[in-house]
Amino acid sequence: MRREADMTGTSATFQVTIANRGRTIACAADQTILQAAIAAGIAYPFACATGNCATCISKLDDGTVSLLPRTDAALREAQVRAGLTLTCRAQPRSDVTVTWLARVAD
Ligand code: FES
Repeated sequence: MRREADMTGTSATFQVTIANRGRTIACAADQTILQAAIAAGIAYPFACATGNCATCISKLDDGTVSLLPRTDAALREAQVRAGLTLTCRAQPRSDVTVTWLARVAD
């Protein structure tokens, strides 16, 4: 069952599933999904980590995130509405599942 953020917000920790690797990791509400993935040893594709390059662009398969500031060049509102996110800018607000879209060597 998916958990939702409580009213205290940033004290919560959620489960984040990285579909490309079939792994589920813990991610605090004040942490980005990219930070949690790297801390867990997952080689998540990224470059700038500041919402400018779109290297980390991912499909938000399930759940809700809050997005930190980013450039429109990296992620436009239409893309957000289409279910895409930047994991370097995305903080979980529920348990989530993401799939990165970059091509990486296995
Ligand atoms: S790593 Fe550059 S936008 Fe996320």
